[in-house]
Amino acid sequence: MAEPTSAQIDNVMREDRLFPPTAEFAAQAVIPSAEAYQALWDEAQADPLAFWDRQAQELHWFEPYSQVLDWQEPVASWFTGGKTNASYNCLDAHLGTERENKTAILWEGEPGEQRTLTYRELHTEVCRAANMLKKLGVGQGDVVSIYMPMVPELAIAMLACARIGAIHSVIFAGFSSEAIAERNQDAQAKLQITSDGAWRRGKELPLKPMVDDALDKSPSVEKCLVLRRTGSDVPMREGRDVWWHELAEQVDAECPAAPLDSETTLFILYTSGSTGKPKGIRHTTAGYNLYAKKTFEWVFDHRDSDVYWCTADCGWITGHSYVVYGPLSAGATCLMYEGAPNFPAEDRFWELVEKYQVTTFYTAPTAIRAFIKWGDQHVEKHDLSSLRLLGTVGEGINPEAWMWYHEKIGAGRCPIVDTWWQTETGGIMMSPLPGAIPTKPGSCTKPLPGILPAIIGEDGQPVGENQGGMLVMTHPWPGMLRGIWGDDERYREQYWSKVPHNYLAGDNARCDEDGYYWIMGRIDDVINVAGHRLSTIEVESALVSHPQVAEAAAVGRPDEIKGQAIAVFVTIKEAEASDALRDELKLHVRKEIGALAVPDDLRFAAVLPKTRSGKIMRRLLRDIASGKETVGDTTTLEDYTVLAKLRAEDE
Ligand code: WT7
Repeated sequence: MAEPTSAQIDNVMREDRLFPPTAEFAAQAVIPSAEAYQALWDEAQADPLAFWDRQAQELHWFEPYSQVLDWQEPVASWFTGGKTNASYNCLDAHLGTERENKTAILWEGEPGEQRTLTYRELHTEVCRAANMLKKLGVGQGDVVSIYMPMVPELAIAMLACARIGAIHSVIFAGFSSEAIAERNQDAQAKLQITSDGAWRRGKELPLKPMVDDALDKSPSVEKCLVLRRTGSDVPMREGRDVWWHELAEQVDAECPAAPLDSETTLFILYTSGSTGKPKGIRHTTAGYNLYAKKTFEWVFDHRDSDVYWCTADCGWITGHSYVVYGPLSAGATCLMYEGAPNFPAEDRFWELVEKYQVTTFYTAPTAIRAFIKWGDQHVEKHDLSSLRLLGTVGEGINPEAWMWYHEKIGAGRCPIVDTWWQTETGGIMMSPLPGAIPTKPGSCTKPLPGILPAIIGEDGQPVGENQGGMLVMTHPWPGMLRGIWGDDERYREQYWSKVPHNYLAGDNARCDEDGYYWIMGRIDDVINVAGHRLSTIEVESALVSHPQVAEAAAVGRPDEIKGQAIAVFVTIKEAEASDALRDELKLHVRKEIGALAVPDDLRFAAVLPKTRSGKIMRRLLRDIASGKETVGDTTTLEDYTVLAKLRAEDE
């Protein structure tokens, strides 16, 4: 393989469009100007601990902490000596205030049922569920595995765990029984919570039978609590399985929140590494709760009149931080929707926005690209004028998809917050503050107050302006992971060894002349063509800017002469896949970026393989492009058939 001529990643795309917030938006914003943002960021940079100390006064403390941060690299303890409770901060804190009878959760099921729960009502339900957990023998430090659809009881179960100091491990209800069993085993879960089934595109997903299989291989699980959701007949195992509604009648609705040490584990959440078995990312009570609350208020510019909708499932970190802990601590009204975006039709999301007068809408680039592909007519049927703020998370957003979101959903009026963060970071790290920071399509703009990133080259030194390198964090923050469940060594190795004394995010990024950050993709995904190091997102964005392209994934494959050659997988909108279109797309990339980025292989695909959370699986595509067998963890692969189809094209 040819050696790279420099350690840097070449930056080949230019994006000059700039969208400042309107004066009207800024005037009412939580952080209303660039100066206000800068003042807050400077204050935090000068003395991060004093800054977080001040913010932490917003939590409820049963006992005050004695130290803001005890940093034994890489082990952080925040707010040591203090006692608080995340369930208290989300619920009890609002009782006796104007928010007591405010709607906390607005829920719609896929078949169309509606429920609303005020903060008072949610508090009652959580207390009852906490008593149910106790009755099932769950106590502080026990792990509760949750495998449920997006129904209010999912949030209730999480908050009930938090209330008594039990640790939740939510497993997305699309995972197989193998994946559930593996996670239950690793966590040594004591209780399983599930439902009979779930609705997905009008069909029932059989959750309980899936769990039954998993529990045969999860010996640590003693009991299984089953919510009735679809009403279908499910076998209940004597002595192990208990109906939620039956147990609920046997307990009362009073359960004070336990005063818990700041560093009490709040939850573990499994995320698949690029190789090997899934990692249980561990988050703790006080620091995580504070970070989710503050970042929610800042980034989503929280106002009491908002109807906020984050479309993520609670099976992902986005659902933990921005459906449950962040918005509820802030006293927000959250819409929760159970089903698919294209059921009964492709306009379901826009129907919901109109019906509930949603003001703030937070989704993923994969969803936005699907909306674009489905066509504007689904959007145009609905009045979306209630919207005032849009957000994205999960992957980089291609500038042309950003423009579509801005124009078609936001009517050119709503700021877009492109939020960069990770399961490990607990909350948003870099994002526009919508009343303060002008946006550039494709950039997550600037670090939030208290967040101190840097970009490091292969030589271990910070790189210059507009040069790509590894994104690191130079200072701990309250929402950071506290470790990998049961594997301290992997934690050190993975996040703290490559760049000494810095948290390694695993992404490449560059910072431009205005101090704006551009995420360039995962470190392992860089394509090295004849000494030029190219980021996947730049090649992909060039393709997506062609009117016929819906999605694109770029990967490197070995090439004897160039080191690596570029292979791209493209899904197209209406056009016929043809050699002529292939040539046209190559020419398009040449025009947009230059000859060095022209793909050597361009394959059309009906769909791209994605993780269940919607990320394109470049690792698998890399193996396909180079003709290798796939290795590593595929439990998060959305659709094996996609993989099979792509392989078949090879043969
Ligand atoms: C990885 C983390 C954070 C909640 C959902 C994903 C990628 C995430 C962005 C963004 C570019 C992004 C990164 C990151 N990513 N947000 N706004 N722009 N890339 O959590 O599954 O832990 O994934 O997602 O590569 O490292 P996750």
